[in-house]
Amino acid sequence: MRQAGRSLPEYRALRKEGSILDAIKDPALSAEITLQPVRRYGVDAAILYSDIIVPVHAVGFGIDIKPGVGPVTENPFRSTDDLKRLNDLNPSKDTPYVIETVKLCVEQLDIPLIGFAGGPFTIASYLIEGGPSRTYQETKRLMFENPELWSQLMNRLTRICTNSLLSQIEAGVSAVQLFDSWVGALSPGQYVRFVFPWVQQMFEKVSKTGVPIIHFGVATGELLNLMSDVGADVIGVDWRVPLDVARTRVGEGKALQGNLDPAILASPWSAVEEEVLTILRLNDGHPGHIFNLGHGVTPNVNPEVLERVVQLVHQYRVGQ
Ligand code: CP3
Repeated sequence: MRQAGRSLPEYRALRKEGSILDAIKDPALSAEITLQPVRRYGVDAAILYSDIIVPVHAVGFGIDIKPGVGPVTENPFRSTDDLKRLNDLNPSKDTPYVIETVKLCVEQLDIPLIGFAGGPFTIASYLIEGGPSRTYQETKRLMFENPELWSQLMNRLTRICTNSLLSQIEAGVSAVQLFDSWVGALSPGQYVRFVFPWVQQMFEKVSKTGVPIIHFGVATGELLNLMSDVGADVIGVDWRVPLDVARTRVGEGKALQGNLDPAILASPWSAVEEEVLTILRLNDGHPGHIFNLGHGVTPNVNPEVLERVVQLVHQYRVGQ
């Protein structure tokens, strides 16, 4: 959930100006950035410092990350011709720096490292919209206007993301997270038709490694049952759904991750404390819970508040 984020002064000091993609291509720097939130917060797992668009950038689609905006592309995906810019990912050739960063982190960490990829819908939305979107109008237009091209695009992205995840697993990550962050823009019917089959294919291949899969999206309250069926071991929940309700939607045999509202981290500590305790109480001692934020840390959050959140969670005892 972007713990490294822009909220850590030590992150900003190391990162300086320049493209985040250049920082990601420097394994020593990326490994150090991965370790910063672990040292600062004492969390129980680390998340690799990279970005969801790294694999599509690496195969030469022509996409960058603009500070304060997010992924942007000058030539959005429009036609069959654009598939040529989405060749298969050969991780040892295209993203050797990611593999190297994973290895450097694993050497230095005594807690698990989580690798990740972007979900095919979320990546497709950046390629098609050309940047962040509120409506996903162009993405939906492509789905309905040219379902055949949508399938081909999803096939390519699924292969790219699967290869990326498998390479991170081979390099030593202990779990992987698929961030299909913006998939909550779809109705359940749209999700079943335009996303489910591809994520299922990806999870079938990745789960053969035995490494646990976490699956997360924002505003996915109405999709939680489908995201559970698609094959992940852990379902990430944003703050909009109470954790006990999420558990009934996700069903037995799965763990949950979440779901503190990141926007309350700037509120008085008493409010933050109450929200944290509410989540832990709603979890009701269930062993399958990874306490986390419901989405990423925003840049203006005081890191001391997050330190207190981690302490509070670690000290909590069931029934409190
Ligand atoms: O804790 C970490 O920093 C882990 C590494 C990580 C980053 N991005 C680094 C990053 C992870 C796990 C991501 C995932 C990611 N990237 C997602 C999925 C998670 C989510 O938030 O929903 C998405 C949608 C992206 C795409 C993306 N990259 C966005 C929307 C932005 C923010 C743009 C901005 O500046 O406001 C980025 C840039 C980015 N990726 C930053 C970081 C630390 C911040 C900018 C920077 O440091 O240059």
